[in-house]
Amino acid sequence: MSAPPQLPELVIRALRMSLERGYVQASRSETGRLLATLAATRTGTIAECGTGCGVGAAWLRTGAPKQTRVITAELDPELAHGVMDMFAHDDIDVMHADWTSLAEHAPFSLLFLDAGSAKGAPREDIIELVEEGGMIVLDDFTPCPSWPPLDQGRVDRVRQEWLSDERFVSVDVMVAEDTSVIIAVRR
Ligand SMILES: C[S@@+](CC[C@H](N)C(=O)[O-])C[C@H]1O[C@@H](n2cnc3c(N)ncnc32)[C@H](O)[C@@H]1O
Repeated sequence: MSAPPQLPELVIRALRMSLERGYVQASRSETGRLLATLAATRTGTIAECGTGCGVGAAWLRTGAPKQTRVITAELDPELAHGVMDMFAHDDIDVMHADWTSLAEHAPFSLLFLDAGSAKGAPREDIIELVEEGGMIVLDDFTPCPSWPPLDQGRVDRVRQEWLSDERFVSVDVMVAEDTSVIIAVRR
């Protein structure tokens, strides 16, 4: 088997910031590669809820066409300003704000829900943020072969509801042995 492709420079920078700050919530590379691949199909504006140290935004920027805007919102002021400085010349717009403030820049062609409150938000609110054919991505699910999906012995309601909502065409993609990602495309 050949070696996995090298990490993009932007991603390395963001991972370095995560390491320096002891930040352990950064997106994993398997998820990042999926984000970059999806972003490569997107025009318009891509948004991320919960910037962290910028790893997800770095993958999105790396994959997206040059003309596609990438915007990300982070509630924690130190993280938001740290990432703003880090990406000052990289065409990634970082907001220090609650993710709900992203609405002023909607509709999005891809929306990555990576803050707990965004993942649990009513789908009625989320659907308004994406254009028709737009994608919503949610990560960090535990792979499960059964239906309804279980997590630690209980029905995983968030996943069940996203996968059953008729307004979306959706799929649960196992990106690694221990993690899966939902991609939901607005019909
Ligand atoms: C899972 S981490 C994000 C990881 C990042 N997206 C990545 O790809 O590495 C979740 C982040 O959401 C932020 N957050 C939590 N609530 C938020 C909110 N209401 N609005 C914006 N960001 C929020 C947290 O401070 C945390 O940094």
